[in-house]
Amino acid sequence: MILKGKKGVIFGALDNQSIAWKVAERCVAEGASIVLTNAPVAMRMGEINKLAEQCNAPVIPADATSLEDLENLFQKSMEHFGGKIDFVLHSIGMSVNVRKGKAYTDLNYDWMQKTFDVSAISFHKVMQTIWKMDAINDWGSILGLTYIAAQRVFPDYSEMAESKALLESFARSFGYHLGTAKNVRVNTISQSPTMTTAGQGIKGFTEFFNYADKMSPLGNAPAEACADYCIALFSDLTRYVTMQNLFHDGGFSTMGMNPALVQ
Ligand SMILES: NC(=O)c1ccc[n+]([C@@H]2O[C@H](COP(=O)([O-])OP(=O)(O)OC[C@H]3O[C@@H](n4cnc5c(N)ncnc54)[C@H](O)[C@@H]3O)[C@@H](O)[C@H]2O)c1
Repeated sequence: MILKGKKGVIFGALDNQSIAWKVAERCVAEGASIVLTNAPVAMRMGEINKLAEQCNAPVIPADATSLEDLENLFQKSMEHFGGKIDFVLHSIGMSVNVRKGKAYTDLNYDWMQKTFDVSAISFHKVMQTIWKMDAINDWGSILGLTYIAAQRVFPDYSEMAESKALLESFARSFGYHLGTAKNVRVNTISQSPTMTTAGQGIKGFTEFFNYADKMSPLGNAPAEACADYCIALFSDLTRYVTMQNLFHDGGFSTMGMNPALVQ
């Protein structure tokens, strides 16, 4: 029960494969109260209502690119909790160019703007909304999910690579402000390839998943283990960890060559 009494907002649970879904389940199992949120369009699938029932959590729709929606979300969340929140998970990603099969050498820039807005700028918008509304308690914790394509080249990841680089940078920069003003920490977790809707949208994902699994001494980190790591970072046991990009990848990021892959 390391999150006993804590209150959090979880973005991005689409279905039971979603990383955010596993995080929501673990948060509640560890004693937290949560609010679930996702884009109105994702609500139509209806899956999130099952999670809401299971977690005894309200669902408040919000397009994470809309400041109006975000203000409404944090206002309603504070009303629901009867006070400020303690933690936030940003688990959002979508590339329009990848979805539409555009090559990296032929990107549509209007779509690229949309990709950055949804996948990265939304993280800043969430933090700025929280900042302006004074919606988070001192020693709170904010987490975003990212991928190693922010540092290294994975050609099929396309413009999501730059989205993740931007996301990680926002965590550092806003981490300064939130840390100085409120002792709130901001980190990103760089997760292994994971079989989810967003993951499987990337071309050749299965081959890539298997490659990363073999390259990593511990194998790919599953979504459930990612949830465990998120819980640790929301808990009071990690209060001085901030402005970090934390690899949760079974060792992949440190490997150069693995003989298992050559055979
Ligand atoms: N799956 C992987 O291989 C992998 C690896 C590393 C990092 N990640 C990251 O993990 C996070 C969660 O992705 P996932 O793999 O669980 O996939 P997912 O498809 O289950 O989750 C992505 C979520 O983003 C939401 N979303 C999209 N547009 C939105 C908007 N405008 N407003 C609010 N929400 C919006 C979707 O509705 C969905 O719930 C993403 O940031 C992703 O990039 C995934």
